[in-house]
Amino acid sequence: MELKFSDITPSFGVELSEDYQLTHFGDNEITWLKQLAAERGVVVVRDQAMDAQSQAEFGRRLGNLFKSPMSKKDVPEELIPIFAGPKSKAVAGAGWHSDVSSEAITPGLSMLRMEVVPASGGDTLFADMYRAFETLSPSMQAFLKQLSARHDPKGHYLYLSGAKKLEELPSAVHPVVRTHPLTDRNALFVNAGFVGQIQELSPRESEALLSMLYDHIAYSVSIQCRIQWAPNTVVFWDNRVVQHHAAFDYFPEVRRGYRLTVVGEAPFLNDKN
Ligand code: SIN
Repeated sequence: MELKFSDITPSFGVELSEDYQLTHFGDNEITWLKQLAAERGVVVVRDQAMDAQSQAEFGRRLGNLFKSPMSKKDVPEELIPIFAGPKSKAVAGAGWHSDVSSEAITPGLSMLRMEVVPASGGDTLFADMYRAFETLSPSMQAFLKQLSARHDPKGHYLYLSGAKKLEELPSAVHPVVRTHPLTDRNALFVNAGFVGQIQELSPRESEALLSMLYDHIAYSVSIQCRIQWAPNTVVFWDNRVVQHHAAFDYFPEVRRGYRLTVVGEAPFLNDKN
């Protein structure tokens, strides 16, 4: 099973190049989509005839979905509203992060579908955590493979939306380098949106190391890509190996869409890698 796509950069991000409708995908195409996202991080699909119901139905075919009590009455409970308008002072996701990494069982794919976009701006930036790890020195890679990090729910959509208090949501400890089960490749797995501290280091050491790693992610433009949205664009990203950052540069215009997020697995490091 091979669908046609074009590369966004030589190694990161692809856009399906034909007029594929996700709602017509069979099981083979779904398996292929998951593998493609695992290998290339980000998959863009344009012009999707989809509403909130059909997005949720499609999402359920990708796996178990995180639930969102923030959804309105007529919106499926798996969809997280993504909205900014004339009264928005800030938006969720405006900083490098991977989705809800404070969960013990962290996400696999996220799927964001945009309905209304500003005349310009409102792009989402993505960064490749395979390459973030691989472009560090061998000595740093070896050091990071011994470490784990505590991820706190400070960036959790249920906390940011006011649906839950911080203390009602759990923290989790995950390896700083994780292996993707579908590619067996290692990726850097710390993000500024959620990580509190590296467990094996003092607070000062942890802060210095995290700050170096976050700079490495933010400044390494050759491991990033940037997606410009149009109405009915759908983007999938694999949170195991990708971080993203929503650009909030379009105030006071409206940007509206829905995200769903698939439950993945507890992050692990294959120590043979
Ligand atoms: C998110 O962090 O999931 C939101 C991304 C976006 O709005 O572009």
